[in-house]
Amino acid sequence: MSAEPLLQAKDVQVHFPGRGGWLGRVRGAVKAVDGVTFDVFRGETLGVVGESGCGKSTLGRALLRLVPPTAGSIHFDGQDVTGLSQRRLRPLRRRMQLVFQDPYASLNPRMTVRDILGEPFDIHGLARGPGEREREVAALLDAMGLPREALGRYPHEFSGGQRQRLGIARAIALRPDLVVADEPISALDVSIQAQIVNLLVDLQRERGLTYVFIAHDLNIVEHVSTRVAVMYLGRIVELAPSAPLYRRPRHPYTQALLASVPVPDPERARTRLLVPGEPPSPLAPPPGCTFHPRCPHAMERCRRESPPLYPLGSGHFAACFLAEGESQQSSTAPRSGGADGVLAQSPSSG
Ligand SMILES: Nc1ncnc2c1ncn2[C@@H]1O[C@H](COP(=O)(O)OP(=O)(O)O)[C@@H](O)[C@H]1O
Ligand SMILES: [Mg+2]
Repeated sequence: MSAEPLLQAKDVQVHFPGRGGWLGRVRGAVKAVDGVTFDVFRGETLGVVGESGCGKSTLGRALLRLVPPTAGSIHFDGQDVTGLSQRRLRPLRRRMQLVFQDPYASLNPRMTVRDILGEPFDIHGLARGPGEREREVAALLDAMGLPREALGRYPHEFSGGQRQRLGIARAIALRPDLVVADEPISALDVSIQAQIVNLLVDLQRERGLTYVFIAHDLNIVEHVSTRVAVMYLGRIVELAPSAPLYRRPRHPYTQALLASVPVPDPERARTRLLVPGEPPSPLAPPPGCTFHPRCPHAMERCRRESPPLYPLGSGHFAACFLAEGESQQSSTAPRSGGADGVLAQSPSSG
């Protein structure tokens, strides 16, 4: 892993027009992503975790410029891609790809595997003739552990796990640099989840891929992530290298998420903490710290002020006033994580 960021998100916001009432009038904005700043380094896996509805998919799509950010900026390989037209984005598309939660929804049911996997080569004009296309597609099948007989078959003829292999094959067909995997195993049987995770890890090692790995469960990303970002209502509330995040989570929300996952690890002494209630609507987020209505440690201040992401050293950040005392900078650090590059601290440099 190098200290060179492949992707830089700065104060990214994605707001949608919110509709409410029986006339469905536009009322305010759904702040799906509300000021996210981080870097993703070459060769690393950044896990992004949070409950359903907290903005993970929207963030992932914004990073790939599949939804336009309302504010903020996104740099890919040093290039500002925030305002690029679809035409200018095209040569970059093959370098950044998405793996979907439900591959079935993203694989054309009327296309054979040969055409599903050959299509990226056609779109980008990357195979010189049918022979080369066939060789590329066959090599992809081999890499996915799928038999060559699969070439003439259709998506419905495969199991869920095999279909996800096809979804991954299509995403990596053109040797991208960045893959955003949006809950790639959530729809699969527990028995095959590990196989898909192992496949992603092997592909990363063999091809030097950089991953943003989205999950709703901290358990899933623990063993694959270099660093983990925990999201709550469109914001990152904690960001840290994997080991310290799991060993000593600093944000009450992260603590609650970890406590709600039963893990057979007696050394990781955890107080049983539940996240009471549902996350509030991103259409009307609570004032102050948006987690305060569910937080067991909420103080008066939390109802009024929104805590910045305090840098706690070694690349660990938490947006909680309880962490303020340990902060390695004064409490004047701006909300989105301080001066340029503060959130960018790589685990090795911290
Ligand atoms: N196209 C859209 N239009 C309006 N609201 C949206 C749209 N996409 C997502 N949202 C809203 O944005 C919030 C975040 O959604 P999403 O990114 O899908 O969260 P997650 O992937 O964490 O479950 C949700 O409140 C969702 O309803
Ligand atoms: Mg999602």
